[in-house]
Amino acid sequence: MERLQKRIANSGLCSRRKAEEYIKEGRVKVNGEVITEMGVKVSPSDTILVDDNPLPVLIKTYLVMNKPVGVLSSTTDDRGRKTVISILPQEYQGLGLYPVGRLDYDTKGVLLITNDGDFMNTLIGPKSNLKKEYLARIDGIITKEEVKNLAQGVYIDAKKTRKCDAKIIDIDKKNKSSLVSITLVEGNYHQVKNMFLALGYNVKKLTRVKFGEVEIGNLSPGEIRELKPHEIKRLVVLSKYKFVK
Ligand code: URA
Repeated sequence: MERLQKRIANSGLCSRRKAEEYIKEGRVKVNGEVITEMGVKVSPSDTILVDDNPLPVLIKTYLVMNKPVGVLSSTTDDRGRKTVISILPQEYQGLGLYPVGRLDYDTKGVLLITNDGDFMNTLIGPKSNLKKEYLARIDGIITKEEVKNLAQGVYIDAKKTRKCDAKIIDIDKKNKSSLVSITLVEGNYHQVKNMFLALGYNVKKLTRVKFGEVEIGNLSPGEIRELKPHEIKRLVVLSKYKFVK
């Protein structure tokens, strides 16, 4: 179930604010009944008409973006900042697209974008087994022992993180920093930064280099490409199946 105005906006017909206006003006019918109050919830099987026209049927779209630093992982921003949706090319506007999960404002790298809610829930829902690989440049020289501890799980707000893969990629003795690869199934808010903080390290730069098997390839910052059908299928398989090794 989702709010009526959201469903109308997600169809690509108009913005959410415009949808609210249409509702207030009595131009929206749900299963034949005019709805004028806000907040009514609708299910996928409800028939919705605006000015007696059925909502457009969305073409399902699956994109990968090389998310740049300084762009929000949301659809809109009330402070007028750039979002991963606002920077999409014109042909992808109005398709009801949203990011599959979030990367922080200052994190860059692989971000999927879709208008397929079931696909998104499969990939980032609580049952998903999808692995995400990050490269973290941290302040300080991390030891092998500490990276081992990171992989075994550390405590964030009294909760231990799940086992993960972590390895040192580079130690920069001159600038006193380390580059660590970390591959996680979990995707909690600020997960990577908080995991390093639990060991006393500050993440200076964070890049997601892999989401399942999807990589950035030759996309420049802000650029997108459509996922291939086999990539979409593979993401669903990797999310649903828990491989032993
Ligand atoms: N973990 C973080 O701390 N930030 C991100 O953007 C993604 C994972």
